Amino acid sequence: MTEIFEKLDLQTPDFVDENIAKLAELFPNCVTEKLGDKGELEHAIDFDALRQEFSSSIVEGPAERYSLNWPGKRKALVAANTPINKTLRPCRKESVEFDSTKNIFIEGDNRDALKLLQETYLGKIKMIYIDPPYNTGNDFIYNDNFTADKQEYDEASEQKDEEGGRLVANPDSNGRFHSDWLSMIYPRLKRAQSLLDEDGIIFISIADHEIHNLRKMCDEIFGENNFIACFLWKKKGTTSNVKDAQVSSQTDYQLCYGRSKNAKIKQRFRASSDRNYPHVDEDGSYRTTVIEKKDSGAYKRDTMKFEIIGHKPRLGKRWQIGIETAKELENKNRFIWDGEKILQKIYNFEDNDTYSAQPNILDNCGTSASGSELVNDTLFAIPELFDNPKPVELLSHLSNITLENDGTILDFFCGSGTTAHAVMQLNAEDGGNRKCISVQLPEITDEKSEAFKAGYKNIAEIAKERIRRAGKKIKEDNAGKEGIENLDIGFRVFKIDSSNMEDVHLTPDDTKLELFDALEGNIKQDRSSEDLLFQVLLDWGVDLSLSIEHTEIDGKQVFFVDNNALAACFDKDINEEFVTKLAERQPLRVVFRDDGFANDAVKINIEQIFKLKSPATDIKVI
Ligand SMILES: C[S@@+](CC[C@H](N)C(=O)[O-])C[C@H]1O[C@@H](n2cnc3c(N)ncnc32)[C@H](O)[C@@H]1O
Repeated sequence: MTEIFEKLDLQTPDFVDENIAKLAELFPNCVTEKLGDKGELEHAIDFDALRQEFSSSIVEGPAERYSLNWPGKRKALVAANTPINKTLRPCRKESVEFDSTKNIFIEGDNRDALKLLQETYLGKIKMIYIDPPYNTGNDFIYNDNFTADKQEYDEASEQKDEEGGRLVANPDSNGRFHSDWLSMIYPRLKRAQSLLDEDGIIFISIADHEIHNLRKMCDEIFGENNFIACFLWKKKGTTSNVKDAQVSSQTDYQLCYGRSKNAKIKQRFRASSDRNYPHVDEDGSYRTTVIEKKDSGAYKRDTMKFEIIGHKPRLGKRWQIGIETAKELENKNRFIWDGEKILQKIYNFEDNDTYSAQPNILDNCGTSASGSELVNDTLFAIPELFDNPKPVELLSHLSNITLENDGTILDFFCGSGTTAHAVMQLNAEDGGNRKCISVQLPEITDEKSEAFKAGYKNIAEIAKERIRRAGKKIKEDNAGKEGIENLDIGFRVFKIDSSNMEDVHLTPDDTKLELFDALEGNIKQDRSSEDLLFQVLLDWGVDLSLSIEHTEIDGKQVFFVDNNALAACFDKDINEEFVTKLAERQPLRVVFRDDGFANDAVKINIEQIFKLKSPATDIKVI
């Protein structure tokens, strides 16, 4: 029977296809067709034709060119573009306020997570903050197996994460030291870039080991023109006691790029109402500002008054006022000579708000020590639970110079969950609506570590518990504050897992007879309706944090997402009576399981029922 309803394809997008589509828009003549692996026709690029389009300015073969290259780069790019057959499975019992929260916690490898988020969050993220492993030689980095074959890689490490994926130490004795790290970060940044909104901004914490490579990589991925700053965060104020160290590094970099020219760091704002006016005279309260040092040439002082010499004097370092204004100020008695310098009086009633550029040095944004103290001492009382969490103040500052008091922040190396903590803290302070998506690998903790001894078998466990404790503490610390009861301290936990669907993408050669029975119900046995619901949301590009209501209609379980944005029913034996009632609610989209209809006649009638009762509804099946 021909398909009546369109089937959701339940795979992450294929970025190669998207790239071909983009090229086809510009150069339709360069897109051709070829036979794919399964014998079907697919689009491909005709490079000879494309080369013709650029015949006078093309670099090929061994010709020298400016670029960042390393062994494994091509494989890393393929890894960034290849679709995956995975999904996000909701986990209610580890979540907080599952039904209402707007925050998301994803447990799993961030490369998969970034691909799974593409449909839903493409161009929607306002700020990304990441703090990846710095490649110090002691870091464990996730080995995507780009650079080594399986045997080499099995020998290289005993470390495994919960899903059997390997985490390998990257010691600098490793010949592939930089290459491994670059291959790890490249596909992740590629996929992160497309999630940023046009005015979105990314910050990447990094140290001396990889800043040079990372900056070049970001120039390539985000565009050199979109470089905003390389902030220096002052992480400590004391020098280290390491005997053989020559220089004590007291800063980390926060490399910052915008998605486009529309991305702007906010200027530093100082409201006049926030200033102090410590002096008083007969005209009112005033503050002073230095406008001219002794004998600097623009003014000359005789015994009684200042004499203006020259034209358009530059007053102080920042001010440039015309000679007329200067004379006027002098006539109004606004200058004071304190024996050393000329001061200008500024009265509270005439003061202005001021804006200035953000300094690239981030001082007073917490320290490594204060970050550790908050997590290890205050929240958990377990010394050395988590190494070097960033301080909440750093994340708050980065957020404050990027966002108003809303927007989604993504942290896909979330570690102990500092970004999620900062988001709740800022919202508590100003009643804002910022939301956070955190991603963390269930990286196993060492058996000898304090974390393991305290029962935290992996880092994702630490992060979830930290966010729970932080949320509770923020509410307690702000008890009595108006509206604090509405603060969102929840998060929806998702775990990355294989697709909910049986593998039906088989070539005829792969197909065994026994499979046909299994294919009839194409959904895996162990998957719940809620699992299916979220896979549909992902595929349809519907926000994963929208509210969900569970209802029963005619004894069938129905999910309504964001009121009527989507209705889903994955029960079996769907019949006309039930569908009529559902259609009366006029959902924008509706989804059923393909094998959920009582019989083929129902399937055909459903289309008619919706045409009559709710013609705008888009109907799909999985
Ligand atoms: C430097 S820590 C981040 C610390 C964090 N900023 C904080 O304040 O707690 C980097 C984290 O990234 C995690 N990580 C490494 N590779 C990952 C991957 N492929 N996917 C998700 N997380 C990963 C590590 O487990 C580690 O916890």
